[in-house]
Amino acid sequence: MDNQIQQLKVEALSRLGEIGLPAELEEFRIKYLGRKGLFPALMKQVAQAVPADRPRLGQLANGVKREVETAYGDRLDTLTLHGEAVSRSTEDLTLPGRSIPLGRLHPVTQIMDEVCGIFEGLGFAVAEGPDVESDFYNFEALNIPPHHPARDMHDTFYVSDSVLLRTHTSPMQIRAMEEKQPPLRMIAPGKVYRCDSDVTHTPMFHQVEGFLVDRGISFADLKGVLSIFIARMFDSRTSIRFRPSFFPFTEPSAEVDIGCVFCGGKGCRVCKQTGWLEILGSGMIDPEVFNKVGYDPEIYSGFAFGLGIERIAMMKYGIDDIRLYYENDLRFLSQF
Ligand code: FA5
Repeated sequence: MDNQIQQLKVEALSRLGEIGLPAELEEFRIKYLGRKGLFPALMKQVAQAVPADRPRLGQLANGVKREVETAYGDRLDTLTLHGEAVSRSTEDLTLPGRSIPLGRLHPVTQIMDEVCGIFEGLGFAVAEGPDVESDFYNFEALNIPPHHPARDMHDTFYVSDSVLLRTHTSPMQIRAMEEKQPPLRMIAPGKVYRCDSDVTHTPMFHQVEGFLVDRGISFADLKGVLSIFIARMFDSRTSIRFRPSFFPFTEPSAEVDIGCVFCGGKGCRVCKQTGWLEILGSGMIDPEVFNKVGYDPEIYSGFAFGLGIERIAMMKYGIDDIRLYYENDLRFLSQF
């Protein structure tokens, strides 16, 4: 019996020394110390020994059991405290790491930043204004009185008779000119709203307004600034044309088209077989607008333009349906 007790001690302690994982330690506990384990079985055997040997064997077996329990407790502490290190040592360090997915800017935000960056590089200051605008700033001060047919082009969301969601960023021309005296060289980026939806129109979209007022500003300055912008935004070989147009707050007015980036000017579905895509409206600021803000049109002249960011993003990325930007499909958005 003495031998049996000593043998169990040697076997248990040597097994403990080999254990490196918490799961193995639990197996050990069940096998040796658990209710139906080898030590409780040993104690039962001791209880059945001849009465003369029982006290000695009991003392010996209890001592061995305590020793094994202490060694088990120490091993448990080591594995729990340094468990991470132990389990890490079993990992394959040559495996490639897990990549952490990164968020990114929405393609419209990326283009907005790029457009603003180009104009800032040309010395334009940035100003922002309210999305909820008064009829006065959105229409009247821009030479669009009530019942003017130009209001029909804007498909306005009205909040009340005199308050609306701005339909363009042009109200910022008025707000800036009311606040500051010329010379003025500003851009106003922001969201605008129109009740409009198809492959090239969304009810909410982004515009960047630009305007420059000083003495002796001519249409040549407008052409120069916009040509530089288009060359930097697209490619210096991109063809541009200024097409006569009408805006009540500019005279003369022009819309600017660039050669269709989808078909290279040959004519396709996106450019409606014309070979050209419209990207912005522009013109020389109408003297009537200067009168509204108290600038003397005999002294000052200026130009203004308003460009649609989603349209530019469509051309830059070759996207033929503007609504994709706002469907929040990550498979689409994560390409940019
Ligand atoms: C205007 O909004 C004028 N305020 C632009 C302007 C400013 C002219 C200063 C003269 C001087 P227009 O309605 O054409 O113009 O819109 C300008 C651009 O916004 C368009 O060229 C187009 O790129 C974009 N755009 C217009 N409607 C939508 C829409 N529903 N969805 C997406 N983009 C649009």
